[in-house]
Amino acid sequence: MDSNQVTSYQAFEVTEQDDGSFAQAIVTKDVPSLKEGHVLIKVEYSAINYKDALSSTGNKGVTREYPHVPGIDASGTVLSSSSDEFKAGQQVVVTGHDLGMNTDGGYGQVIHVPESWVHSLPEGFSTQDAAVLGTAGITASLCIDKLLMTGIGPESGPVLVTGATGGVGSIAVALLVDMGFEVYAVSGKADQHERLRALGVTEVFGREELSESNKRPLLKGRWAAAIDTVGGVPLENILKSLMPQGTAAICGLVSSPALAMTVFPFILRGINLVGIDSAEVSSAKKAAMWAFMQEHSSILQGYQDWVTPITLDQLPEYIDRILKGGAAGRTLVKVS
Ligand SMILES: NC(=O)c1ccc[n+]([C@@H]2O[C@H](COP(=O)([O-])OP(=O)(O)OC[C@H]3O[C@@H](n4cnc5c(N)ncnc54)[C@H](OP(=O)(O)O)[C@@H]3O)[C@@H](O)[C@H]2O)c1
Repeated sequence: MDSNQVTSYQAFEVTEQDDGSFAQAIVTKDVPSLKEGHVLIKVEYSAINYKDALSSTGNKGVTREYPHVPGIDASGTVLSSSSDEFKAGQQVVVTGHDLGMNTDGGYGQVIHVPESWVHSLPEGFSTQDAAVLGTAGITASLCIDKLLMTGIGPESGPVLVTGATGGVGSIAVALLVDMGFEVYAVSGKADQHERLRALGVTEVFGREELSESNKRPLLKGRWAAAIDTVGGVPLENILKSLMPQGTAAICGLVSSPALAMTVFPFILRGINLVGIDSAEVSSAKKAAMWAFMQEHSSILQGYQDWVTPITLDQLPEYIDRILKGGAAGRTLVKVS
């Protein structure tokens, strides 16, 4: 596919209907003309993130205007570029920023994005590897980066990961294990506990372990750190169970965006609560996170089992699965 030869491409598009419902279809779209400082990319792979599932089903908190092509991750090859940094034929990856939110995203065979969103494909990674890691890998890496920044290391004690079979959770587990952390996991999927242990988790708890609201301001200190992807009551229980000077890095809200608790764990145990925004983090930080994942690229071998490859026409089924909390690992979307 060469932008000089190709004028149209296929995309998974979401449209708002007159009755307020949303329809999904594979449509043909025109390749946009290249704007100054932009890059036209032939997308080879994308993935399904929780945010993509929201955008694909009409969540206006994620995507304000439809018709829209979701997909916050995209890896592929530059078709044409008005940037000095990127040349036609170069392999690249884009995650986050406005891609797939209010800019047509990786579920289309072509994306047109500002050069500042684009990263050269990290050496040693294929375009498939880059999409498998994608936003989930960047987010897991940012969470770990924040743990390290607050003085947490493998010697500090056990780390708990929630939503452990999810995209962010499972990659966080694989990275932490590779770094020598003792990792514990919370997962609602009883049939995946064995697979999590195979990834190197010491013990897996069911979601019920953290799901009961507890009036006590502090619980027994068990975790040196936590990576939480779910929020709500589970997060309250985690913060109350951090050991002194412990850190919780949080990124998600699949359980709830609410947090109702006292300040006692903060002022009596000196714990840290740190947040992650993988979409708008600086380009330099994103590059550092890709470099971090390159250092731990060996995780990709053991992670193959956690990758489900699909094509654009299978998106509706898998989007539904992730919204119901039933997806495990990363759903890799072969786009072109
Ligand atoms: N802040 C950021 O930059 C950023 C970046 C990426 C993602 N996120 C957020 O992080 C979260 C995870 O994203 P993801 O793409 O990894 O999603 P995902 O693949 O769907 O993973 C979420 C996991 O959470 C668990 N879960 C689902 N529903 C739950 C519920 N009601 N209560 C408790 N646990 C539940 C499930 O794992 P188990 O079955 O194993 O429990 C599920 O696999 C989402 O909220 C997403 O929006 C934020």
